[in-house]
Amino acid sequence: MSVLITNIGELVTNHPERDADPDLGGAGPVPGLGAADAAGAVPGLGAADAAGAVPRRVAEQGAGPAGPGSFAAMARAALVIDEGRVAWTGPASRAPAADQMVDAGGRAVLPGFVDSHAHLVFAGERGAEFAARMAGQPYRAGGIRSTVAATRNATDDQLRANLRRLAAEMLAQGITTFECKSGYGLTVPDEARSVSIAAEFTPEVTYLGAHVVPLEFESNPGGYVDLVCGEMLDACAPHAQWVDVFCEQGAFGRDEAAAVLVAGQAAGLQPRVHANQLTAGPGVQLAVQVGAASADHCSNLTDADVDALAYSDTVATLLPGVEFSTRHPYPDGRRLLDAGATVALATDCNPGSCFSSSMPLCIALAVREMHLTTQEAVWAATAGGARALRRTDVGHLGTGARADLVMIDGPSHAYLAYRPGVPLMAGVWRAGERVA
Ligand code: NIG
Ligand code: FE
Repeated sequence: MSVLITNIGELVTNHPERDADPDLGGAGPVPGLGAADAAGAVPGLGAADAAGAVPRRVAEQGAGPAGPGSFAAMARAALVIDEGRVAWTGPASRAPAADQMVDAGGRAVLPGFVDSHAHLVFAGERGAEFAARMAGQPYRAGGIRSTVAATRNATDDQLRANLRRLAAEMLAQGITTFECKSGYGLTVPDEARSVSIAAEFTPEVTYLGAHVVPLEFESNPGGYVDLVCGEMLDACAPHAQWVDVFCEQGAFGRDEAAAVLVAGQAAGLQPRVHANQLTAGPGVQLAVQVGAASADHCSNLTDADVDALAYSDTVATLLPGVEFSTRHPYPDGRRLLDAGATVALATDCNPGSCFSSSMPLCIALAVREMHLTTQEAVWAATAGGARALRRTDVGHLGTGARADLVMIDGPSHAYLAYRPGVPLMAGVWRAGERVA
């Protein structure tokens, strides 16, 4: 059944409008993913339409050949969903008929948020640790161990129920794709069940056996790295797409982290790295060297780190909810963008450093505290996240994209930062199905 969403005040597509409508210079609907074709590509510049839709390229962030392109939006627009995909976008005045119609009432419609970094397989909570932090205690990587203890003591069903609740919380707030890490089990069976439970909820599963060295290996960290690269990896790799490591003082050093990533790659997993969160360590350089899809946190960068990110395909994934919740300085998102790096925003939802699943909060913080424009921040939370997961089917609303979209109670994407803390989700669709 096809659905027409019409009377959209602003439709953010993150995609050149060449696919939107042949009359706008496009090649017409292109079935399948990405629309990598260059046939007749006029990337939406100034193609003012007689009926009033004005496609525009606002930011150049992350322009690329396939999948999500730069931030792009059109006014007074419509969108057709068919068989779970975006079938048509263009001026509302020229929208085709569909089986069902939704009147957006002038609201903005955007791609669903793509959260490329979250830790959702855990038990327990650390509200007291947060309160102590706000009273002056520092954040320490070692806090992870208290969640490890609670997670080991939980049943599979308890872990599953917690993850189900958090996934639903994310979806209700517009996150239509999320990545989920293990990392609170840190034994072979606990990591294996973590990735296997995560895989019940998302295809983007990350093996993070190298989160911290667990207590029982404190005097033998090398032995733990061997386990992570050996038996634990063998048990987890069948359920995961990604391998991650917390490269940080108090967690894993450069050589240990490299060993974990290389072993993961040999087992068919693609690397991503917790890099430069608390200190300007070797994580970003390592991430770039191994061709990681993403270096996450990037809160303490040298000039060489910024350059390395700018001249690589490794996305700089910023997690400003963490700085909010730890009262650490925010990463310099403006500097990364100005240098030419591709920036993504993600929640890092976890019980320790940031227990928030709100992408609108991340967008508001990125705009207010990291000096991203509203367009850049929205791009980073949608197309940027897709880049960080190397996905071309989500993060944009080009023809053929998965019909993951959010409708917000406001006429433009800017409302996500302009109205911080206000529940703005007026509708959420995932794979064409209305879920909120
Ligand atoms: O991304 N940095 C490492 N891991 C998480 C924190 C986990 C925790 O404190 O429990 C993060 O911030
Ligand atoms: Fe994290």
